[in-house]
Amino acid sequence: MKIDLIIKNIGKLVTMENSFFPRIGNQMNELTILENAYIAVAQGKIFQVGVGDEYKKLIGENTKVDDVGGKLVTPGLIDSHTHLVHGGSRENEFSKKLNGVPYIQILQEGGGILSTVNATKKATFDELYNKAKKSLDRMVEFGVTTVESKSGYGLDLETEIKQLEVAHKLNEDHPIDLVHTFLGAHAVPVEYKNNPKAYIELLVKEIMPKIKEMNLAEFCDVFCEEGVFSVEESEYILKNAKDMGYKLKIHADEIAPIGGAELAAKLGCISADHLMAASDKGLEDMAGGNVIANILPGTSFNLNKPSANARKMIDLNVALSLSSDYNPGSCPSENLQFVMQLGCLNLKMTPNEVLTAVTINAAHCIDRAREIGSIEVGKKADIAVFDAPNMEYLMYHFGINHIDKVYKDGVLVVNNKHVVY
Ligand code: NIG
Ligand code: FE
Repeated sequence: MKIDLIIKNIGKLVTMENSFFPRIGNQMNELTILENAYIAVAQGKIFQVGVGDEYKKLIGENTKVDDVGGKLVTPGLIDSHTHLVHGGSRENEFSKKLNGVPYIQILQEGGGILSTVNATKKATFDELYNKAKKSLDRMVEFGVTTVESKSGYGLDLETEIKQLEVAHKLNEDHPIDLVHTFLGAHAVPVEYKNNPKAYIELLVKEIMPKIKEMNLAEFCDVFCEEGVFSVEESEYILKNAKDMGYKLKIHADEIAPIGGAELAAKLGCISADHLMAASDKGLEDMAGGNVIANILPGTSFNLNKPSANARKMIDLNVALSLSSDYNPGSCPSENLQFVMQLGCLNLKMTPNEVLTAVTINAAHCIDRAREIGSIEVGKKADIAVFDAPNMEYLMYHFGINHIDKVYKDGVLVVNNKHVVY
């Protein structure tokens, strides 16, 4: 086999190996960390992982050898919950938020998600594309190599298709891989304010089948929340989605404990996301149903809300994933490293648990664990090189970008913190 690339002189290599199932309990903290390690890459995939000088035997005429000078190396980070593609921004709501006006109240007054819906409807394909591309560049510069991207700022067939098609084009053009989720049930559009049932019927009977037929989304998600979509409505939408062949996700128990976590377990969702207000029973059901808890600490931080109870979830053997929730309202930041630091500082997770949550568990959360999420032979050579000596340093020195290099499919796409693709 012709070896294209060898990354050598890795001070600490966190492999996340043997990760056929999401890691739970102690498995999130007990990681293999190789010292003085190397990774050999062929045709974009990991060919060999080892320690010491063994790599020398693999060097051929055209092998590129990158010496990373003793740095920390991990699997490429995975951001498994974002609202990447949207028009506009919402800094006009910032002072309301600072004055304590609740997030849901802003939405109910026609702002919030609905104001981004207006901006997204008005934006052209190219405007949405260029804005989202800028965000993807930022994300990869923070070490992210795969991103889940939701629709949900159209709330009509035409705009939902536009958002999803932008994401598909970016998947072709940008080094980051995207995974697509339909979130038509993100809010009730203004036109249906007095008849939400009619909007739900439109989703189930027309929009969701069309999106599936066009193969634009693999997952279907719902914003199940008091004042948005009830548990019963969410169940109806997601059951239909399942019958159409979508895999399921749910925004659950973010603000009020209405039973979103319980519903996620009942329906077999791959993940339930947010969960700041989830009940103990809901978390127990999730553990029993193997639903991944996808926690979004950047959102709790930005909304000034108590964080989800990650320690309790780990104790209950619920698998945890962490992601940014990047969106123009509740979390306008692409910085997954900051989210990881909040994982330690606010969720009281260990650095190892946090890394598990943004690599292999995040891969499971988007059903990609066969290809990504660990440094193992045969997986994609998606690799993050941090200018840090160990995992603790990465979390302790907060608010900066620790990335030195990022490889996507074995190609150097970020060098000295900046995109070079
Ligand atoms: O996950 N909670 C619902 N949806 C997004 C926020 C979207 C927005 O405010 O634009 C979230 O936080
Ligand atoms: Fe979200």
